[in-house]
Amino acid sequence: MIRKLTLSALLMAMALAIPLSAMAKEETVDRNCASMSDWYECRDIKTAPPLAQEGYELIHNTPITLGPSGYIKGADGKPIINGTYSCDSCHFGGGEIPGGIPFFQVRDKYAGEGYWWPAGNKLRKIRERINWCLVSCANGQFLPEDHPAMDAMVAYMEWLADGIQDPSMLGKEGWKNIPGHDMPLVSPGALKLSANAARGEQIYWESCDECHGDRGPGRGRYDEGEPRARVPALWGAGAFTKGAQGMHTVPQLAFLIKGFMPLGETGLSVQEALDVSGFINTMPRDMGYFTIDYFREGTDPKTGVPNYLLKPSFFAVGAEIPNDPFSYEQRLLGPWQPIEDWQAAERAKWLAENPAPANN
Ligand code: HEC
Ligand code: HEC
Repeated sequence: MIRKLTLSALLMAMALAIPLSAMAKEETVDRNCASMSDWYECRDIKTAPPLAQEGYELIHNTPITLGPSGYIKGADGKPIINGTYSCDSCHFGGGEIPGGIPFFQVRDKYAGEGYWWPAGNKLRKIRERINWCLVSCANGQFLPEDHPAMDAMVAYMEWLADGIQDPSMLGKEGWKNIPGHDMPLVSPGALKLSANAARGEQIYWESCDECHGDRGPGRGRYDEGEPRARVPALWGAGAFTKGAQGMHTVPQLAFLIKGFMPLGETGLSVQEALDVSGFINTMPRDMGYFTIDYFREGTDPKTGVPNYLLKPSFFAVGAEIPNDPFSYEQRLLGPWQPIEDWQAAERAKWLAENPAPANN
């Protein structure tokens, strides 16, 4: 692991007699201010208003605030978040990294009426959106929308948006100019590919286990009472649930992995990222709330097509589609294009059988 350390860190470790292996594992994904300088002003969190600073504390040191060792509990006395994640175990760099599930866009995206969520067939505003991630990604329970912790997290995200200098990246549509907005597929042609979980398992043992398997496979590295997981878990109790869109969706998780992992040594090919993402997502994890309800309710507001026919091909969970010829495995691991094509044909068939009433 010595190759990852700078000389000064090395000398420091020697002076303090910290084992080098332990130091290397405390790394985080950090923001790269120079690369964003033409549109974003990086600021020190210490210059933020107190409420936003509190929000950062919740998002960065989640285990000792909202998590297992935290002082904020649900009405049932249990932690808000069961897992040992910090929000920024996934929203890298505190949400200040394009492509690392950033937070800069959240203020404007969820403003006004909210942002359309196809899986739930409804608009969501920022607090509801945060709650769904809390429950599905961080394996937790809902936080009352008027809770002070919610105010603080929202204030932090608003403060991030204040750093955007390019006006074309602001507003109800401008946030789409932020690189990596929403969670993209690992490559434009990814749906034609598929993930080989067996090959992914080899990649995991070769390139990921040294950090993510430190407390046993899938457990990451977290000790009771620590402010945040030094390395977060990838599966098992407390890891992201099957309801975590963007994580339990193989071609999207592959995007995150390809961009940032193995930490400090990125360079997986699209196929390798898909394979290891496929492996991670075949490992055991909690169902999460309401996973079977996704895409069950309602119809597409524009066409009237039943919502279940709009379920993305790479959603292994969610409403069952009548006469679906595809297996759970194919929806999880691909190839996804044939599923897309079949659903497009089903939508066309439905529209032909249910013509829209003539306009008058
Ligand atoms: C050098 C240590 C290291 C290696 C090697 C490594 N990771 Fe990570 N990984 C981390 C750390 C640390 C984080 C959390 C980053 C942070 O807190 O800023 C992380 C976060 C993640 C996340 C998001 C959080 C979660 O738990 O779901 C995924 C997914 C992930 N890594 C997958 C992988 C995969 C796949 C590999 C191998 C191809 C890999 N990592 C290799 C250290 C590592
Ligand atoms: C295991 C990884 C993980 C953890 C932990 C996590 N998130 Fe997320 N979060 C995601 C993913 C993946 C998305 C979906 C991104 C997308 O589809 O655009 C997301 C989306 C969001 C969004 C909406 C972003 C947008 O642009 O629409 C918010 C807000 C959010 N999360 C807040 C939080 C907060 C607050 C926490 C901690 C309490 C948290 N998340 C913990 C993975 C995670």
